Amino acid sequence: MKHFLDIHKTSQAELRSMIDTAKAVKTARQGQPKGMLDTDKPLDGHMVALIFEKPSTRTRVSFDVGVRQMGGQTMVLSGKDMQLGHGETIADTARVLSRYVDLIMIRTFEEETLLEMAEHASVPVINGLTDRTHPCQIMADVMTFEEQRGPIAGKKVVWSGDGNNVCASFLHAAGQFGFDFTFTGPSTLDPEQEWVNFARKQGVNVSIERDPVKAVTGADLVVTDTWVSMHDPESAKERRHNQLRPYQINAELMRHANDDALFMHCLPAHRNDEATSEVMDGPHSVIFEEAENRLHAQKAIMRWCLGK
Ligand code: CP
Repeated sequence: MKHFLDIHKTSQAELRSMIDTAKAVKTARQGQPKGMLDTDKPLDGHMVALIFEKPSTRTRVSFDVGVRQMGGQTMVLSGKDMQLGHGETIADTARVLSRYVDLIMIRTFEEETLLEMAEHASVPVINGLTDRTHPCQIMADVMTFEEQRGPIAGKKVVWSGDGNNVCASFLHAAGQFGFDFTFTGPSTLDPEQEWVNFARKQGVNVSIERDPVKAVTGADLVVTDTWVSMHDPESAKERRHNQLRPYQINAELMRHANDDALFMHCLPAHRNDEATSEVMDGPHSVIFEEAENRLHAQKAIMRWCLGK
């Protein structure tokens, strides 16, 4: 069973092969209408369940379009409208869905929900985000960097802000794709030590630097995300804003990065909080390329899961 649960749980060779596939499927579709089927229709006759327990725009639409382009069909399910949201166990849900569909993508809160779904499903399960990680996003981000600047191995990636679930998957990718990673933010929002240890064990440099200017100096890629994640309480908002304001990505901070540095944000963004519109819409920014590449990267992930 080929589940796509996390970047650190997937081999380097398989990850590289998925990025290569993503680039190839993107190139093959260049200039085609969005609704046109991929010529080999790898998901012909396949049904895919897309389960959302949290809001989504990019993940929902890119998975849905991706399945359809590959000739498959989707059903988009809201966790709260399923019996899952009313006491049915995750294990039973996984067993039942496996009788109807060929692939399950789930966006959920607890990592345990994803892992239990994968343990009891007899079809592949894809992590569409948990409170702990967001691997599909970072596969798209690696693809985006390499399209723009060539191999990401050996580059300096700087994450500024909250060491959240997206940051976690970047740390996994640092270890698996071989790039150096610097986190800059307040100590209370450091990324999980387990993920820092993972990347370091893979042989890459991981730095924690409290001074954002020092952190960004010499960066090839600067990344940030919202200051308050979907799983954070609303009550955290004011404190987060006060803590993270010095880590805003603005034109002055970007000046310290390499001249050809890229800027990424997985979106949705709170413009002029974590990053200014000047940067988001400026020459370093590839935020909409990232969003587009969710589609191509996830098509490669689904092909891999289904052996297509
Ligand atoms: N980046 C991302 O996962 O976007 P959505 O929350 O809109 O799916």
